[in-house]
Amino acid sequence: MTAGEIKHFLSINSLSIGTINSILDRAESFFPIGSKSVKKTPILRGKTIANLFFEPSTRTKTTFELAATRLSADVLNINIESSATKKGESLSDTLKTLASLRTDIFVVRHNQSGASAFIANLMGEQVSVINAGDGRHEHPTQALLDLFTIKRNKGNFSKLKIAIVGDILHSRVARSEIFALQRVGVKDIRVVGPRTLIPYNIECMGVKPFYNLEQGIKDSDVIITLRLQKERMKSALLPSASEYFETFGLTEAKLSCANSGVIVMHPGPINRGVEIDSAVADGANSRILEQAGNGIAIRMAIMAMLSGERA
Ligand code: NCD
Repeated sequence: MTAGEIKHFLSINSLSIGTINSILDRAESFFPIGSKSVKKTPILRGKTIANLFFEPSTRTKTTFELAATRLSADVLNINIESSATKKGESLSDTLKTLASLRTDIFVVRHNQSGASAFIANLMGEQVSVINAGDGRHEHPTQALLDLFTIKRNKGNFSKLKIAIVGDILHSRVARSEIFALQRVGVKDIRVVGPRTLIPYNIECMGVKPFYNLEQGIKDSDVIITLRLQKERMKSALLPSASEYFETFGLTEAKLSCANSGVIVMHPGPINRGVEIDSAVADGANSRILEQAGNGIAIRMAIMAMLSGERA
């Protein structure tokens, strides 16, 4: 890949293995900046990055902001609730105004699938767009920070057995995760959850469904747990949160079915006592906090790549 070759970062599905590897390598080179006393590099000095979050977010938004400031860019956090769109201005006019102020990158989160691609289309070559999660479609930066976390803990991807557990049906993370793991050569990918939360025919994506937690995580090296995306459920798909925890909640007892060195991940926000027990979330196998922190180096690497800045 040539630096600057990619204008927008919208989905894992459109990335080559070469691009994925170069982002992982670049993130590795940015990683040590996080433990320096001056956590800055001048790579994006003079550039402007706008965070446009139309949906709630803690980890993604803050780590994008930290990534941009560590690259020495100027950051605009646009408060959608109090922006001119509330006074009747169309979204496209608000975005064109931001672009005319010479913003270089828009980081977009939206509850509609395809929203970031729509904005990228509108902006063309003027502004780069990063998808920070669009509806049920994709969450590509989350998938790359998860690959980064797995690589740092496990080294090689090819022999790993990886289980993604929970609400697969409504999860943009699960979709991006499956594409990303397949790109780097993971062959044993399982999706685990109740039948109502696993898409029919998911085998077509090259993964194996399991409707029993113990069987699905048996001998696994990595378990990625997911939140129940209640905001996207249109009907009652589960009897209750407590019954879900009984059958699919990850407890220490159930974790013993996995390999002894298994790592437990979760994109957050976590719901303790629903998809994961506190003893596991805070336990020795958990990499949940490490994952959130790894988001900074990955997002730095993606923003540097889009700006055409070489190492
Ligand atoms: C995920 C998201 O927003 O899709 N979280 C995140 O980005 N940290 C998963 C979720 O909300 O459950």
